[in-house]
Formats: sequence, C-alpha cells, structure tokens
Amino acid sequence: MGDLVELSWGRQYLAVEPTAYRIDYAINPFMDPADQPDPARASEQWQVMVHVLRALGARVDVLAQRPDSPDMVYAMNLGLALADEAGRPEQVVLSHMRYAERRAERRSAGPWFAAQGYAVRQVGVDGVGPCFEAGDAFAWGDALVVGYGPRTEELGLKALAAEIGVRVRGVRITHPAMYHLDLAFCPLDDRRAIVCPAAFDEPSAQALLDLVPEPLVIDEAEALTFCANSVVVGRTVVMPACPPRVRAQLEAWGFEVVLLELGEFHKGGGSVRCLTNPLDVVIGRDLPSVAGGEVVLPRPR
Ligand code: ARG
Repeated sequence: MGDLVELSWGRQYLAVEPTAYRIDYAINPFMDPADQPDPARASEQWQVMVHVLRALGARVDVLAQRPDSPDMVYAMNLGLALADEAGRPEQVVLSHMRYAERRAERRSAGPWFAAQGYAVRQVGVDGVGPCFEAGDAFAWGDALVVGYGPRTEELGLKALAAEIGVRVRGVRITHPAMYHLDLAFCPLDDRRAIVCPAAFDEPSAQALLDLVPEPLVIDEAEALTFCANSVVVGRTVVMPACPPRVRAQLEAWGFEVVLLELGEFHKGGGSVRCLTNPLDVVIGRDLPSVAGGEVVLPRPR
C-alpha cells in the first residue's frame, strides 16, 4: 500500500465546453442520432467534472467548442501534447481524424496549441497521410503505447515515431466498442494500469500485459462501463463507473476513487478521459527520446 509511486503527469488538462455537443452521426457503436444528449444535463455533468478536477489540484484550460464539430467535446482527441522538462509547452501532434466529421476540430486546436507556445506538428491532414487519433496514445515505460486499427492506422505509428523521435509500441485494437486505446488502457501509477485484454488481438493483449508490472485486468463487460476511461490525479482515480472488483483492487493499492456522472457523454462514446487532454506529459521524463523514432510491434506467438 505504501509503495504507490504516483504518475508524474495528470495535473494539467485541456477540455472543451459542450456548447454544441450533439449526436449528428454514428462513428462508433455507442452513437445513435435518435438518442440525443440533453444539453442542460451534459453541461452540468461537464461543469461538475471540471470542478472536481480543479478541486483535486489539477489545472483545466478550456477551449470553446466549434459549432460545426459536435464531437469536439472529446478533447483527448485534439492532439498529443508534450511539455519540456520545465513543464512548458513543447510540441503537439494534432490528430488526423479517421472520420471527416471530426476533421474541422484541428482548425481550432492548432491555433490554440500554437498560441500556448507549442510547435504544432501533424502526421497527415484532410484525409491525406496516415490517421492518428490522440486517444490512442499514452506515454508508458520506455515508449509511447499507441493503439491502432479502428482509428489510428498502422502507418501512422511510423509517422508519429519519426515526427517526435520516440519509440512507439503499437497494439492492435480489434474490439469495435473499444475503438480508442483510452477505452481499454489506463495508466494508474508508475507500474500499474487498467488493461482490458479483450480489446486487442492476442499478441497485442499479451504485449500490453507484458509492459505493465501490475495490471488491473478488466473484462469486456467491465470495460463497457467506461471504467478504463478514467483520469488519475495523484492517487485519486476519477471514474465514471467503478465495478466492485475494480474498486477493491484500486483501494487495496492505496488509490481513492471519485465517481462522476457522465452518462450524457457516454451517448457519444466517451467519458472523463476522452473529455480531457493531458498537457503535462514531459518528453524526456515520461517519454524517452529516440533519435529518428522507432516502432515496435508485437510478434505473433
Ligand atoms: N464520438 C467520438 C468519436 O467517436 C468519441 C470519442 C471518444 N474519445 C476518446 N478519446 N476515446 O470520435
């Protein structure tokens, strides 16, 4: 219990206020245009989320939602932001969304990141070049772990690794409802993470489990509560749902669980992680540099 070494990141976020959040189309199995979010409830759930994160000591920057981008509230997908050793904005790789419906978001995200001082990079734009969605990427151990398949393309791994000069460990997502890595993988501290093996093909599930010294393994039904789509601030895990077995393990490890009601956002296929984009992942400290970049893929066994 005393050996919990908190994540070095997770105290600064970008979020997008839901002023134009709708389900206008269906690009994941959760979305149904016949089941619209209630704007007042969505707004209240989002405000409470921001309040809770700030009360835990996190900084939350807010970007306005574009009227033409109903999914922009899922700020995790705006881009992969990296800070320098002093915690200052360093570079961001903007997402190159798989679906055209989300491609206008970068027109607001690019200028916002640039204004903060980030060097703005990309691996493709407007359907040209490989897709990369930032909800697929987490700094973990010696690499950037990146899910590919439903959204990020395998070719995107190489482009990403080369663009920022890091090792990318690709894991292939096969479950249609876990279309981003952040629905099936959640770093908790320096050696523990929530992992849902059912999201991946067999070699990738094994490769991911091999990367996590103490995985909190969840099954498909548990993952579909969005419990892996959580945010960790120090030793507090901010979660939209927490199945009893998951709570028991988290508490045994010394984490505190804070539950949020985010049901309106589950209609669009995302929860607290998707609604927030971490800004304090430090290149060097959290993600070692590798000259020229490198991609490691799981070997079939
Ligand atoms: N409707 C959004 C989409 O399908 C949900 C994104 C969820 N975000 C995430 N980081 N998993 O693109």
